[in-house]
Amino acid sequence: MTVANVMTDPKEAPAAAWAGRRTFAIISHPDAGKTTLTEKLLLFSGAVHLAGQVKARGDRRRARSDWMEIERARGISVTSSVMTFERGQVTFNLLDTPGHQDFSEDTYRTLTAVDSAIMVIDAAKGIESQTRKLFEVCRLRDIPIVTFINKVDREGRDPFSLLDEIESTLALDVCPMTWPVGMGGEFHGVYDLVGHRFLSDGAGTVPGVPGLSCTGPDDPKLAQRVSESVLAAFREGATLAAEAYPALDIAAYRGGRMTPVFFGSALKDYAVAELLGALETLAPPPRSQPAEPKPIDPASPKVAGFVFKVQANMDPNHRDRVAFVRLCSGRFKRGMKLFHVRSGKLMTIQAPIFFFAQERERAEEALPGDIIGIPNHGTLRVGDALTEGEAVRFTGIPNFAPEILRRVRLDDPMKAKQLRRALEDLAEEGATQVFRPVIGTAWIVGVVGPLQLDVLAARIEAEYKIAMGFEEAPYETARWVVGEPAKVKAFIERLRGSVAEDRDNATVFLARNQWELNRTIEEWPELRFEKTRERA
Ligand code: G4P
Repeated sequence: MTVANVMTDPKEAPAAAWAGRRTFAIISHPDAGKTTLTEKLLLFSGAVHLAGQVKARGDRRRARSDWMEIERARGISVTSSVMTFERGQVTFNLLDTPGHQDFSEDTYRTLTAVDSAIMVIDAAKGIESQTRKLFEVCRLRDIPIVTFINKVDREGRDPFSLLDEIESTLALDVCPMTWPVGMGGEFHGVYDLVGHRFLSDGAGTVPGVPGLSCTGPDDPKLAQRVSESVLAAFREGATLAAEAYPALDIAAYRGGRMTPVFFGSALKDYAVAELLGALETLAPPPRSQPAEPKPIDPASPKVAGFVFKVQANMDPNHRDRVAFVRLCSGRFKRGMKLFHVRSGKLMTIQAPIFFFAQERERAEEALPGDIIGIPNHGTLRVGDALTEGEAVRFTGIPNFAPEILRRVRLDDPMKAKQLRRALEDLAEEGATQVFRPVIGTAWIVGVVGPLQLDVLAARIEAEYKIAMGFEEAPYETARWVVGEPAKVKAFIERLRGSVAEDRDNATVFLARNQWELNRTIEEWPELRFEKTRERA
């Protein structure tokens, strides 16, 4: 089950070195255990030596601005970040996705930059709403998924019912890789169905300590470790599982049709090493990325990458922002001049950053699958392509129609210019959108979820020192208006009161309600009213 050409020395065999990259995300519903699992993956890979460091690092970061206060107060993670760690010859790039539903747009974009995902499910709860939504995004892009059913050390649902739920609600074939030996008060450990090892306290749950090797679930040795009633139920379940489900088919997994399933406990370290092993040996190396005029093949020698996230004011003392770029092909070197396709200009990338588990480091070199941070002053936007000369457009990185529209109220009219700057800066991160109505001066902001409004107001106050607020706007929804320029012009002229421009000067129709939207769509059959706008 090993992947060919993973184990190559990057220096000796540059052509295949990228094959050792695993760029992935963890998708889950809040509280399923994503943070705990992230921490344990870092621990088991040897990237950090003490559990608790991910959170500690988060706290340090959070302390930096008032906006982060919201994160802390509400116990949610609203920013995506990148963590790179290595094990052997494999480099893992873990892209963190915010779990809160209001931030799904940001999450969608992050998922455009990964090659595979881990889906974490709480054993007591099964598939929850947010997991499902994120799964749908993965499915759109055929992203292969490894499933981790977490918290089996607690009382949870029957393993078969959890597997059935994955099969029936997500339409995925499942292949159990580990099986719980008891649950809750009766929990004894986890059995590795592939390597036939019993993972119990210490053995198999501490990095480097192997589990108890067995001949199969019927191995008599198990009787010395597991109580009789639990053992009987485990043997029956594990034997049935081995018979009832198909063997692992790597092609089906990589095609997004089958998911290997690990029952485990992130908190108590069960099946974490096995999960990491699966990422190493099963998860795909960098895949070709959808783009026009043609997809970008990771083996192509020329550098091409795209921005999937922008974070403004990472350091509030400097109005810097960092564009997160996923490298898709070629070998990037610091100091390279890259072609910024949208502006048609060359950019020298002087100070790119790598995000290691515990620190940031200047990136000297990056390969397909790697994420580099490029500090800039607003030139780079989500969806932008950077290449070694080719006019490429990456596709499938959408702007979503906002579901909540509000008018911005400025308390000090002298600060209009600063407000504009603040709104535009923060809109560049992509979680909020700003619209400038054709008539009137008040900006309209659009968000996908209400929490984003609080974050936006808190950040504008903390980072730009502007007192402002939001007022109800008479609009319910927005659509991008697309069509022949003359027709769009006629539309703007006729409906001036309901038309705005986004920050790329694209025309947006602000509808008061669904009825008005439907009527307008009927009246202008030659125009398209789009819910998403792919970034130009
Ligand atoms: P999230 O990032 O997906 O939101 O979840 P997180 O890791 O923060 O875990 C949510 C809660 O579930 C935490 O408890 C965590 O300790 C617990 N948890 C995670 N994995 C396991 C597991 O394998 N077994 C058990 N029993 N619990 C697990 P908390 O009390 O909310 O937070 P904390 O005080 O422990 O930090």
